[in-house]
Amino acid sequence: MPGRASAGSAMSRRRFLITLASATAATALDSIAGPAFSRLAQRPSFTHGVQSDDVSFDSGMVWARADRPARMLIEAATTDSFKNIIHASLVDALPETDFTAKALIEDLPQGQDIFYRLRLQDLSSPKAISEPTSGRFRTAPNDRRSVSFVWSGDTAGQGWGIDVSRGGMRTYATMLSNKPDFFVHCGDTIYADCTVPAQQKLPNGATWRNIVTEEKSRIASTLADYRGNYKYNLLDTNVRNFNAEVPIFAQWDNHEVMEDWWPGEAIERHGYREKSALLLAARACRAFHEFMPLRYIPAEPSRIYRKISYGPLLDLFMLDMRSYRGPNGAPPSSRYGPDAYLLGPAQLAWLKRELKHSTAIWKVIASDTPLGTIAVDTHSARAPLGRGIEIANLLSFMRLGGIQNTLWLTADLHYTAAHYFDPNVAVFQDFEPFWEFVSGPIHAGTWTPSTLDRTFGPRVIFQSAATREQGDNLAPCYGLQFFGHITIDGRTGVLSVALKNVGDQALWSTSIEPRSDPSLQHLSRPLPG
Ligand SMILES: [Fe+2]
Repeated sequence: MPGRASAGSAMSRRRFLITLASATAATALDSIAGPAFSRLAQRPSFTHGVQSDDVSFDSGMVWARADRPARMLIEAATTDSFKNIIHASLVDALPETDFTAKALIEDLPQGQDIFYRLRLQDLSSPKAISEPTSGRFRTAPNDRRSVSFVWSGDTAGQGWGIDVSRGGMRTYATMLSNKPDFFVHCGDTIYADCTVPAQQKLPNGATWRNIVTEEKSRIASTLADYRGNYKYNLLDTNVRNFNAEVPIFAQWDNHEVMEDWWPGEAIERHGYREKSALLLAARACRAFHEFMPLRYIPAEPSRIYRKISYGPLLDLFMLDMRSYRGPNGAPPSSRYGPDAYLLGPAQLAWLKRELKHSTAIWKVIASDTPLGTIAVDTHSARAPLGRGIEIANLLSFMRLGGIQNTLWLTADLHYTAAHYFDPNVAVFQDFEPFWEFVSGPIHAGTWTPSTLDRTFGPRVIFQSAATREQGDNLAPCYGLQFFGHITIDGRTGVLSVALKNVGDQALWSTSIEPRSDPSLQHLSRPLPG
């Protein structure tokens, strides 16, 4: 029966590959016969938990790190019993990537909980197989299912590391209790330029006691140092529990390399023997890609900016305002050129193109830098200057192109805030008003409120920060650690934002109706049922 045969062979090629890969894993497992390999110490093991990233409606990245050269065997299923394996593949963890390994799990059903199970096979002793470890993520919906996610930034800054007696990095546990579909990390995923000392004194005389590691005892400049920063954060139980359940969409800010660096900088800073910021950034970027499970972009393998399509309700734009920026301290000018780069021309063109083509109701722009702090002081300016020029150009493009329902998310300020950008009080006025929501730190010092540049007319609608009496760099144990929670209702398209603290209290919230969405017209009538 030719019909059956061809349908069967088309179907069975994928099935065959899965079976083959599963069989490889199974054979390896079955062959753990010798008593020598039943001894745990001789079997490979996972060192820093698991992570997932960049999920789409049919795929997701997974990550883990081995304790030796090992082959990572990846399986996925739609139930945690793993009775029905729908994906199997292999990736090697070698010293060249510090034993990290990540891979894309493809051909998954949309809007579905996916369970992944990982094992390690010792490359030098193939019969030695690790205990399995597992995690989960949910694929993006391809229909109008409600979406829920959290965002924050600033992990383990200012020497506030893991104090086990104070519960470690507790904000991760609070975020997990909100059961989000994913987490947007807006940058400062590490603090490469902050050491973590054994102790810090608190204002009340008590002592903060950190877990310490060799790499976190010095300012990072080698590849091993940068890697050590990510490994430090993954020592925290809250972080590992969170990572096993929630995909992280990560971008970087400045501390992944060095405070306020720029690509052409000749380093003249205390504590640095390396003189080229670009060289440090290359090492830092490599470590970021090794330890963050973001996708590989062949056109620019080091790229961090990207779009994540999360179904009909949401497109997420992850920006990189660090890698392509012009020099610090360039004289403020209204002329656009390399000195004024923020996103750089290629990223700006990409962002405009993707925003224009986006069919999602909400276009959320995750920015490593708040829009009220990118421009130079413009108290007497009549036009956007320096790094503000690209943002002005973008906002004007969005107004002219009728690109609606955009909002900006960021961290960086080390406090939480709701900023409403209003052209009526701005230097540059050619844009539609929009919101920027700020939340962070996850686990770092809390700052007092910043002075915002008025180029785009930010109005502070709400903020919760350290008081003047508390001062800057308030320790995480004082409770002013923040994240934000966003939900988008599948029926109405209404986007709700809550700014929350480590205790899971919603300090401020609002709901925003989407504008001019033809697909929502029918929702003005009550829905049946
Ligand atoms: Fe930060």
